[in-house]
Amino acid sequence: MEVNNTDFLPLNGTDYIELYVGNAKQAAHFYKTAFGFQSLAYAGPETGVRDRASYVLVQNKMRLMLTSPLRSDSPIAEHHKKHGDGVKVLALWVDNAYSAYEETMKRGGKSYMEPTTLTDANGEVRMSGIHTYGEVVHLFIERKNYNGVFMPGFQKWESTYNPEPTGLLYVDHCVGNVDWNQMNPWVDFYSDVMGFKNILSFDDNDISTEYSALMSKVMSNGNGYVKFPINEPAEGKKKSQVEEYLEFYEGEGTQHIAIATHDIVSTVKQLMARGVEFLKVPNSYYDDLLDRVGPIEEDLEPLRELGILVDRDDEGYLLQLFTKPVEDRPTMFYEIIQRKGAKSFGKGNFKALFEAIEREQETRGNL
Ligand code: FE2
Repeated sequence: MEVNNTDFLPLNGTDYIELYVGNAKQAAHFYKTAFGFQSLAYAGPETGVRDRASYVLVQNKMRLMLTSPLRSDSPIAEHHKKHGDGVKVLALWVDNAYSAYEETMKRGGKSYMEPTTLTDANGEVRMSGIHTYGEVVHLFIERKNYNGVFMPGFQKWESTYNPEPTGLLYVDHCVGNVDWNQMNPWVDFYSDVMGFKNILSFDDNDISTEYSALMSKVMSNGNGYVKFPINEPAEGKKKSQVEEYLEFYEGEGTQHIAIATHDIVSTVKQLMARGVEFLKVPNSYYDDLLDRVGPIEEDLEPLRELGILVDRDDEGYLLQLFTKPVEDRPTMFYEIIQRKGAKSFGKGNFKALFEAIEREQETRGNL
């Protein structure tokens, strides 16, 4: 029997993440000031774009695009009115945007953008796109014949304000929150349409506190560069964090973006000094931490001071910390993660973490 192991959708990683926001100019300032992103590229009326302004920021291998509508009749304005600030595009870096489209479409993908070639003096970027959960889309970006700063249509964004980077390296994973009973259909989508594999599963016994529960399955592409955990709510005594998200985002969407660092203590220290707010676990979390996770290279004291969480799996350990939502709706947030061998997602921290989230929900009156 011949086994076909060819990856029909080879991915080189995340190309960029685009957020639709209410005020991209101010959001860009926030991501520079608070997270240490650097100005990269801009598109808007000055570059011939009439309906939007987009700012592209970069830190090491991670690119973030912030887009605002310029008029109320724009679909971007509709998106923002419904969801508030949130992820619109999870763009994936491919070697062939045309075949990425063909292969996913013939497996049941829903078209968002037919294959398109953009050109300027610096070469060409080819792109295409399909829909995923909620109003989120995946764009396939092929840039092997492009030498410009970002892509055609954008100009280099030169700024006199350039805060230091904070050691953020690349996108580790992006988590989607989907509706009741929708986890498995979206797991099937990533498996059937995009060729991803289910590498981990959590049910409500793994992830539940006295009040709230959720279920999660982690989907990964072949080389593991792109990982999308998918969460759905589960029945609990009170409203779970995924339900709160779905209510305030008014639908399915991206819950958090995890960004890797090589030195979480240094990164988190800088982020906190710049005003990024993190979830706090009780101090007792650290009392028996080393009994739970075994020996680690880091000193315990800075971890305790900063509230950094640790978890271990068969392959090593990881350090992680979660921000509070970065907009007024209790929707999207960030995770900062340093992997030391571990390929998992911090299951051992779920209980302490969810109790911390519930305390936040309580203060919002949403528990
Ligand atoms: Fe995560």
